[in-house]
Amino acid sequence: MKIEPFEMERMQSTWENLVEYDMSESGVRPLTLRELGSMGFDIQRALDMPLGYSQSNGTLELREKIAAQYPGASVEHIEVTNGTSEANYLLALSLLRDGDEMALEVPNYMQLWGVPRSLGAKINKFTLRLERGWEPDWDEFEAAVTPKTRLVYISNPNNPTGSVLSRESMERIVARCEKTGTYLLSDEVYQGAEIDAALTGKPTPSFWGMSDRVIVTSGLSKAYGIPGVRIGWIAAPPKVISECWTQHDYLTIGPNKLSDWVARTAVDPANRAKCYARTGEILRANLPKMREWIASFNGFLEWREPAAGAMALIRYRSEIPSYELCERVRKNQSTLIVPGSHLGLEGCIRVWMGGRDEYLTEGLRRVGAELKTI
Ligand SMILES: Cc1ncc(COP(=O)(O)O)c(C=O)c1O
Repeated sequence: MKIEPFEMERMQSTWENLVEYDMSESGVRPLTLRELGSMGFDIQRALDMPLGYSQSNGTLELREKIAAQYPGASVEHIEVTNGTSEANYLLALSLLRDGDEMALEVPNYMQLWGVPRSLGAKINKFTLRLERGWEPDWDEFEAAVTPKTRLVYISNPNNPTGSVLSRESMERIVARCEKTGTYLLSDEVYQGAEIDAALTGKPTPSFWGMSDRVIVTSGLSKAYGIPGVRIGWIAAPPKVISECWTQHDYLTIGPNKLSDWVARTAVDPANRAKCYARTGEILRANLPKMREWIASFNGFLEWREPAAGAMALIRYRSEIPSYELCERVRKNQSTLIVPGSHLGLEGCIRVWMGGRDEYLTEGLRRVGAELKTI
């Protein structure tokens, strides 16, 4: 199988540890083991844990805790994976065959651009439109999702716009998938990273339960702030889970034993609430700084404030290609940001806003210094 490079991930993994300021992230600054210790993770006991293989689809206890987040789900509906990325990969491997069609929402995290194409699937895109508050272009959506479509992939909250679909849009997407017999994969890894959820008490609703065509992926990397343990999961009908487990046996066997344990602590409802609250606090502190910084460009930069996630998708008024712009920022300012072209939308950059105050201030100063030269 021939696979194209995953441009955004490769640019990040090439440079993120070499630049002075990595402003390319999309989650909040990570939690430490000590912080997890204060949530009940027993570090002393972990020292004596034999580092054997773990239960390959996730320990029963972890699957029970995850299933409890999805009404009507049991452990048979859950597969624990190495990050949300492995969850998405397993689903593509399980559901797509050469010649199949798939619909992809753009802009997006482009993993399910490269993987389906490597399997021989054809991708039909539909666009989220800034002028419509990042709601889908329905003409494109209807053309992209037909009885030939095997799978639709969306991220909600969306990477990179940070937008959340309205209830009407959710219902319209599900209704179309039911009519065409298409699986809907809703990647909800940013669910819980809402910027004002604590104020409104309304986290992003899940697609889970809206139809038996719905599959949800998620994980600890974004809203929980624990990407380094590499734990994600799939919630899906048991027959889909069974296919994914088969693929999992071949790919990585299963998740890391220590990570499964960390995850059991993190997904415990009281701790989950603490992680989400911490994420929300960081984002609420940083959002005004990002707002102010964008406004200081007097219309050269434009955005729609994100509802969730630690990233700002910013449109700039220049013809310079986004990759070229980001390379200039990297080379001249030793600062990494993400070009819109790596997210399926040219003319934009994605800038991180999940770091500490001083880091954000200096990172933005450097990006701004370069922007002012164009
Ligand atoms: C929408 C989306 N899905 C999945 C991933 C990968 O997440 P994980 O670290 O859980 O593999 C990302 C990472 O940026 C993402 O934005």
